[in-house]
Amino acid sequence: MNRKSILWTMITILVIMSFVLAGCKKAEDDQVEVFSWWTGGGEAAGLNAMIAIFQEQYPDTEFINAAVAGGAGTNAKAVLATRLQAGDPPDSWQGHAGQELIGTYVAANQLEPLNDLYAEQGWLDVMPETLIPLISADGNIYSVPVNIHRANVMWYNPAILEANNIAVPTSLAEWITAMDTLKAAGVIPLALGEQWTVMHLMETVFLASLGADAYNGLWDGSTDWGSPEVTQAINDFVTVLSYTNTDSASLSWQDAAQLVVNGNAAFNVMGDWAEGYFRELGKAPETDYGWAPVPGTGGTFQFLSDSFVLPVGAPHREAAINWLILCGSKEGQDAFNPIKGSIPARSDGDRSLYGVYLQSAMDDWASDIVVGSLTHGVVANDSWKSEIDTGLGLFLTNLDVAAFQATLVAACESSGPCGQ
Ligand code: GAL
Repeated sequence: MNRKSILWTMITILVIMSFVLAGCKKAEDDQVEVFSWWTGGGEAAGLNAMIAIFQEQYPDTEFINAAVAGGAGTNAKAVLATRLQAGDPPDSWQGHAGQELIGTYVAANQLEPLNDLYAEQGWLDVMPETLIPLISADGNIYSVPVNIHRANVMWYNPAILEANNIAVPTSLAEWITAMDTLKAAGVIPLALGEQWTVMHLMETVFLASLGADAYNGLWDGSTDWGSPEVTQAINDFVTVLSYTNTDSASLSWQDAAQLVVNGNAAFNVMGDWAEGYFRELGKAPETDYGWAPVPGTGGTFQFLSDSFVLPVGAPHREAAINWLILCGSKEGQDAFNPIKGSIPARSDGDRSLYGVYLQSAMDDWASDIVVGSLTHGVVANDSWKSEIDTGLGLFLTNLDVAAFQATLVAACESSGPCGQ
């Protein structure tokens, strides 16, 4: 072969190889399936903002939005469990930092560690130190937190409070007095929705009644679930429940939150995704809705964090990693969170993009005592939470405090640290 034909042969080989490589890459990256429960009410809008960036960055990857409707993932988690059992994981899913992740999916060896990605993206320098242990096990990091939500927020209707001469309550006692006044005036004092929102209310009342240390102790075994303090917390919860609407079981969290901004109820306890929803409804902060920590929980930030994972056996692993990189990026978080009603997990978010409520949440996150949420996966694994949930369902039918407390004691023994 002369020099010219060698050159031509080499060029031909290079061209063929680049086609083959491009073909392989295309096959790997042609789609990504992301699983969540963000289907409406401010939530889908936040997700869509991130999807738009992803599509811009990876125009050849089809984004399959596999969101399953139902607040707090009540339906989605059941669908996910069935898929995981069948060996059919999505490429990435929304989970919660904390025990839901570590005590459920990591314990079942369903996730890949992401230490290399953390190192490559420099995330250890920008993710909060409080969060890393909650997404780690045995020195491995298992998820990418996209946000921080606050659970212990009390939303209120400023006009209703003013019309009834009520100052924003800051203690359980003040709250109860205010709700007596509202009840007497024929106003629904506290809007409530389906059962997971009742658990959400319960965890905030437990926090108010017990205080941050004893509340934390419930989850590490140092507070006795059978103690008189816990009996008191359950009794406080019963009192608070007596001010709620009777049709709660048939209302979604959006329905219940809407009662407040529509002027049908004075208060609603809900995580700050409610703020994303209020904004989507075109409501104005401080005019149509106000906020304060759930009475008795001022100075404490009861948090949760939506976190995306890389499952073992992700069908489109490369694309899933691209999605995770976006979730952990400043650009992704600053697009998602101002709409979703959460603050960025990263410490370098652009504050000017966030509204007045979220700016206040940023300040509180930086200065408050931080405790975790039960309903949203931080403090208990899924089995423990589901035992508590079953007990709560029964409790709502009979309000038998002693029986409920016995169930809570048993749940900590069978699925929490009390039995160890
Ligand atoms: C939480 C989740 C939030 C929000 C909420 C209501 O569990 O972390 O992002 O979606 O449920 O659906």
